[in-house]
Amino acid sequence: MPLKAELHCHIEGAAAPDLVLRQASKYGADPTPFIRDGAFVWHDFTSFLAVYDFSAGLFCSEEDYALLADHYLTSLARDGAIYSEIFISPDHAAQAGLSAKAYADALGEGIARARNRTGIEGRMIVVGLRHAGVEAVEKAARFAARCGNALVTGFGMAGDERVGDLEDYVRAFEIAREAGLGITVHAGELMGWESVAAALDHVRPARIGHGVRAIENPDLVRRVAGSGVVLECCPGSNIALDVFPDFASHPFPELKRAGCKVTLNSDDPPYFRTSLKREYDAAAEHFGMDAAALAAVTRTAIEAAFVDRKTKAALLARLGR
Ligand code: ADE
Ligand code: ZN
Repeated sequence: MPLKAELHCHIEGAAAPDLVLRQASKYGADPTPFIRDGAFVWHDFTSFLAVYDFSAGLFCSEEDYALLADHYLTSLARDGAIYSEIFISPDHAAQAGLSAKAYADALGEGIARARNRTGIEGRMIVVGLRHAGVEAVEKAARFAARCGNALVTGFGMAGDERVGDLEDYVRAFEIAREAGLGITVHAGELMGWESVAAALDHVRPARIGHGVRAIENPDLVRRVAGSGVVLECCPGSNIALDVFPDFASHPFPELKRAGCKVTLNSDDPPYFRTSLKREYDAAAEHFGMDAAALAAVTRTAIEAAFVDRKTKAALLARLGR
């Protein structure tokens, strides 16, 4: 089994339907509109976000979040992962009645528990939600910059890419950058190549969440390759959300051939009937990647990780030469 690393997974989106059902009965909520026959019910990005928000709202206590992170990272470790970055969303914590600090610290506790049991190393990237507006995203950035949790090492923006103008969010990224955090931004998932170009122009991120629709413009593909920006690719998510119809038409292999740095990620695994292991397996099956090619993807992810130099060196040493 190849060693794996994941840079792009929304922690609330990692809660499987059976866990969400348990949370619903714990808090007396009716899950029937959102979960049917053991699966989440959605049909497009907007309805996906509605189910996502419902599920996230059922994680209300610090112990709920510690368990969620512990479960997810432990399952990743079982599948051969040695490193995981999770997106954490203070807006969802607020919706559930928890302070951002209590939320991040509880998730950090879950990461520590999983590390103690399995050895998996974990970090957190605070995300602002684009559809929550500029103020909310800046608030998330200020929290990331000041929270004082050593496992918070990055800042990003997720949510509905179709909303707002990226230029308006630049200040949030500058707040995070000044605090020394790694920068990533969702772009080129729901919107086309122009969105990826805008991210490079205005945000200057180290990584882009998805970024795959850069493929629509060959000049931009060359620019991404030349920039060294790392793409957090999530093929299973893209296919589930109909960004591309199938693996055969997914641009991962073409981006890689063009010299773009690409990684494999699960995004919101149970929503898209995937997992990090399934993404690696699918890359082997559909993109013709052998063990050495998959190991190189893991190396790219570790090299792009928002983690201190010493930990990064130790992780790279585990991958060997
Ligand atoms: N939040 C959770 N999953 C997301 C996705 N695929 N794109 C943007 N925001 C998200
Ligand atoms: Zn995402």
